[in-house]
Formats: sequence, C-alpha cells, structure tokens
Amino acid sequence: MRRLVFCGLMFAVFAGAADLSGTWQNETQGRGSQPNITTCVFKVEGSKITGTYATAQRAFTIETGTVDGSAFSFQTSDGFQTPPRIAEYKGTLNGDQFELTTVMPAGAPARGGRGPQGPRVFKRISADVVFHPSPELTRTHQEFPPFQPIAPNGYAKTPPMGWNSWNKFAGRVDDKSVREMADAIVSSGMRDAGYIYVNIDDTWEGPRDKDGNITTNEKFPNMKALADYVHSKGLKIGIYSGPGRKTCAGFEGSYGHEQQDANTWAAWGFDYLKYDWCSATAVYRPDEMKSAYEKMAVALRNTGRPIIYSLCQYGWLNVGEWGAGAGGNLWRTTGDINDSWRSMSSIGFDQQVSREVFAGPGHWNDPDMLEIGNGGMTTTEYRTHMSLWSILAAPLLAGHDARTMPDFTRDILLNTEVIAIDQDPAGVQGTRVRKDGPDGQTLEVWKKPLAKGVAVGLFNRGPENAPMTVKWSEVGVTSANPKVRDLWAHRDVTNAPAEYTVNVPSHGVVMLRVE
Ligand code: GLA
Repeated sequence: MRRLVFCGLMFAVFAGAADLSGTWQNETQGRGSQPNITTCVFKVEGSKITGTYATAQRAFTIETGTVDGSAFSFQTSDGFQTPPRIAEYKGTLNGDQFELTTVMPAGAPARGGRGPQGPRVFKRISADVVFHPSPELTRTHQEFPPFQPIAPNGYAKTPPMGWNSWNKFAGRVDDKSVREMADAIVSSGMRDAGYIYVNIDDTWEGPRDKDGNITTNEKFPNMKALADYVHSKGLKIGIYSGPGRKTCAGFEGSYGHEQQDANTWAAWGFDYLKYDWCSATAVYRPDEMKSAYEKMAVALRNTGRPIIYSLCQYGWLNVGEWGAGAGGNLWRTTGDINDSWRSMSSIGFDQQVSREVFAGPGHWNDPDMLEIGNGGMTTTEYRTHMSLWSILAAPLLAGHDARTMPDFTRDILLNTEVIAIDQDPAGVQGTRVRKDGPDGQTLEVWKKPLAKGVAVGLFNRGPENAPMTVKWSEVGVTSANPKVRDLWAHRDVTNAPAEYTVNVPSHGVVMLRVE
C-alpha cells in the first residue's frame, strides 16, 4: 500500500498557498499486517481547497473546501448512499503536519464507519499536488452497456429458509462445523420445518491457482465432498463471495473471475450465493452497481444449476427498485444486524417501512439473518424477532449454534404456526397499521395479508407490560366473529367478535392469525 502508483491526476503546486497544498498522509495500525493509510491531496487557490481524500479502498473528491489562516475544513460526498452521505472534516495546520477531525453531521455513519473521529495527525509526504491511488483502486474492467433488467430465475417463491455461519461463527466456520450443523439441522427438526439451506459465509476462500480458479483455505479441504455430505442429509448448501477484489473479511473476491467462480461453485454443487459488495466500491462507480450484480446473476444462470442469488449491499441506492431486475432473489436492506434488542428492533420495525412494495414471490427484502439463540436478547425479544421477520416475509436464516439448542430456542425457531406466516404462498410483506407512544418505545400493530386471512402482530417496544387492543376492521378483516388463533400460546381465542384486548409483555409480541 505504501508503493504509490501514478494515476494520471496531477495538479501544479500553487504559488502563494504552498502551506496546505501538497500530499499528506496519516498512518495507523490496521487489523492485519498492513497499516491503514489515509491520504489527503490538497490544492489551494486563495481560500478554496480542491483535491482528494483517499483511504486504501476509496477516493473521494473534496467539495466545498476552505482555508482561513491555519484552520481549514472540507466535505466529501459518498454517492453510494441515498441521498449521498456527506462527511465533514475540520483541520488545523501546524508546519509540516496538520490535525484532522472528522465530523459527520447528517445521518448514521457509513457501513463500517466509526462515526465522528479524530483528531488524526497527517504528515506532509510531498509538496507536490499529485494523487497516487493504491493499486487496489485501479480498474481493469470494461464499461458496462446500459442496464437492462433480466427475467426472474423462477426460484424462491417463498422467502428462503436455512442457516448461515456468520452471526455465530464468523471466521471460525470450517468443514467440521458445517457438517455438524447439517446433522443438527436434521436431528433438531429444523430441516423438516423448512430450514433447508446451510450457508457458508465469508472466510472459506483460498488464493487463486495459476489458472485463476478460486481455491479454498485450509479450513475447507474439499468443498465438493462437503456439498455432497450436506446434500445427503436432504439439505442444500450456500456459498459467499463479492463483486470486488476482496470480500468484507479481506479474502479473495470474484472481481474479473465472475463466470469462472460461478462455474466452480456449480461444479462443487452449491445451491445459493450471497454476493457481498464491500470492496467493490473501489472498482465500480455507484451507477455500475446494478450491472456488477447482474453480471453474476448471468454467470450463475450460465452454469445451468438452480442457484438462489442473494444480494448484500446494505440497501444502498434504493436496491428494492432494481434488485429483482439485476437477478436477485433477495437483497439486504440495511447494515449488519447484531445480537441486541437495539439493533434488531431498529432494523425490523424502523428500517423496513415502505419497502413492502418491492417484495413478492421470487424477490424478497432481507432485513439480515436471525440472531435467535445467540444469547444477546431475552426469549421474549427473540420471539419478537421471529414474529416480526415472519410478518415482513423475510428470509429466515438462523445464525446460532444448532448443535446446542435449548428448548426455549427450539420453541421459537420451530414454531411452525409462525413459520407458516413467513412462508405464506401469497408472498405479501406485512406493514405497520398503527403505532402509539414515544419513539423507540411504541406499541405497534402490524398486519400481513395471507392467502387465507391476516396475520396480526401486537408489539410492545416499551419498558413496561401493556394492554393492547386491535379491532379486526383496522387490519382488514371484514367477517363478523372471525376465527382467531394465538400463534405463540398455540390456542384459539374466543369471545373476540370485533376486537381483542390482551396484555403484551415489554419488548414482546402477541401474534395472531385471523380468518
Ligand atoms: C458483511 C455482511 C455480513 C457478513 C460479513 C462477512 O459485513 O453484511 O453479513 O457476510 O460481511 O465478512
């Protein structure tokens, strides 16, 4: 990364403003063996700064930069966010170094961002105003032709169900744990309840061989044998990659090898691909994202093997509007979930609203994988997680250690009455009908129209147990005296001809099927 390569963007040193004009670097210890280097290239004209702010993966053009004596500030804009995310920086120059503080006034920090940062010390590395990006920033691909949507592949008529290694195992997933998980998914009854896909997430990848074929690392000695094993259990198997040079965990990505990788995965016997954007930002512009995803969709189809295609780009650039057209069966709608009430409830309740128009058989919004059974939430909260994801017609990808599953976890993941709501053949994503109370602590009524009847979720996000009432008319049930079933109590509700009042625990749910 220290070896700098000239990219053709060059400014003359500007006489009279030489102090801040030039190339500056900040270096901090990275997580791996490489340092994290951030480069600022400034050209100052009068009080105006132009130039570039670049990390190892991304270069941003400086907008509205100004300098006043030793104090200066500038903004950059991230076009992968909708609306573009503005980052603001303030600095103080002191001889051959400056201190820079990051201010992020608008919205949440970018995916992977750490929020406001600073101050960081940048040292002058050259008086020249020359931008040298790192080798990772160079592009070798051809320009894409104008984007044309492709027809659906016909798979995933109901939201995909299964298990994924990331939430529990992250980089520790290996051949043995995947085999054991497949065994446990069968013996626990998960398979028979519909959890079919056993998906290996990031960190399986090895280097490319001399012909450019992707290999596995030492954790996965024989992928074909592993896929055969998982298939022998009546399950399907999934794999992970991304359109960039590197995956999110820094392993080999599929950039420039899309068809070759699709062929390899098909030959190994994979049935599902999660394709994660991450470093693709370094090689594609925002307007190329759709085509970069479609390229892999086409490659998968060229293999002739039925492969579910899962887009993972954190909901950027209104993916719901084009995810299906790019060949996706599902697409993430947000940044990563973590095993906490705060993360789950924010993603599930607040960040899915109005996305329902994009979901339907074959193409689903993905609010991220389940955390049920991982220990960071209460049983009541995990029940809410399962209920909300089912009302949202979300993919149900368990993310726990299925080998050691206590009954209270099994009772949630294996509630077949709730799973039936998620898997309802009408394939309609549910919506919020009403919310009352202060932000983040609301009492919320949700509904999901079903092929027959309506699913109703009464959710209490507040700190105290609370009575909640739902009128059947407000959830679209017109029949008098409908049949009402409580899907967690597993009992029919009687004496509720027009409405129902019930106590809902703090952070809990009462979920009903009304026909
Ligand atoms: C991203 C994805 C996660 C997971 C990791 C793996 O953060 O959003 O779901 O796949 O990458 O590195």
